[in-house]
Amino acid sequence: MGMNIAIDGPAGAGKSTIAKQIAKKLGYIYVDTGAMYRAMALHLLRGKILPSETDKIDEKCREADISIGYENGEQIVYLNGENVNSLIRTEEVGNMASASSPNPNVRRKLVELQQKLAADKDVVMDGRDIGTCVLPNAKIKVYLTADSRVRAERRYKELTEKGVSCDLDEIEKDIINRDHQDMTREISPLKQAEDAVLIDSSHMTVEEAVDAVVALLH
Ligand code: DC
Repeated sequence: MGMNIAIDGPAGAGKSTIAKQIAKKLGYIYVDTGAMYRAMALHLLRGKILPSETDKIDEKCREADISIGYENGEQIVYLNGENVNSLIRTEEVGNMASASSPNPNVRRKLVELQQKLAADKDVVMDGRDIGTCVLPNAKIKVYLTADSRVRAERRYKELTEKGVSCDLDEIEKDIINRDHQDMTREISPLKQAEDAVLIDSSHMTVEEAVDAVVALLH
């Protein structure tokens, strides 16, 4: 088992930005587990499955072979051999990922892949259930959160910078809805592990949050 760092928290708290920088600083491998649920969601959407069709999710998810690789230090997610990185960052895929991730077969498959990745390497892994389920023995566990308005503002800024027009209130509503979905599901809901350190990034810079996590190593 490597020296693993688990970072969990709600959508938009800055997990991936912070986890990536920690990995770079420490020479660990960054594993984005949300991307795996998103790749699975893309597979389901391509199969014209609705979030409510749970019986169909079961069957459809069996056809999806999800794996990850690295190119220039960047994580690439493969869905049946196809690099789907550029297709999984839409709201549609994010919402489908949130809706399909409670499925036990989806989770079993992806958790197995995540545990394999962490078994023989030092990883910084982010997601919703890393500290509670995937890596219960992680050396460091962080629950990274931020106020929903702050998270919405960050997302708004990201989107407008890309030239996408959007509405701040709508984004916040979506974030609150996704939090609720992720926190109230029956299997592996998003929650702070008992031994996780809570970091609220609402009033922190990325650098401050990175330093706060790295400081836990010492
Ligand atoms: O972090 P993200 O927005 O890319 O994740 C997309 C969805 O995937 C999220 O709403 C819930 C699900 N997910 C999960 O259930 N468990 C994880 N470890 C990571 C993501």
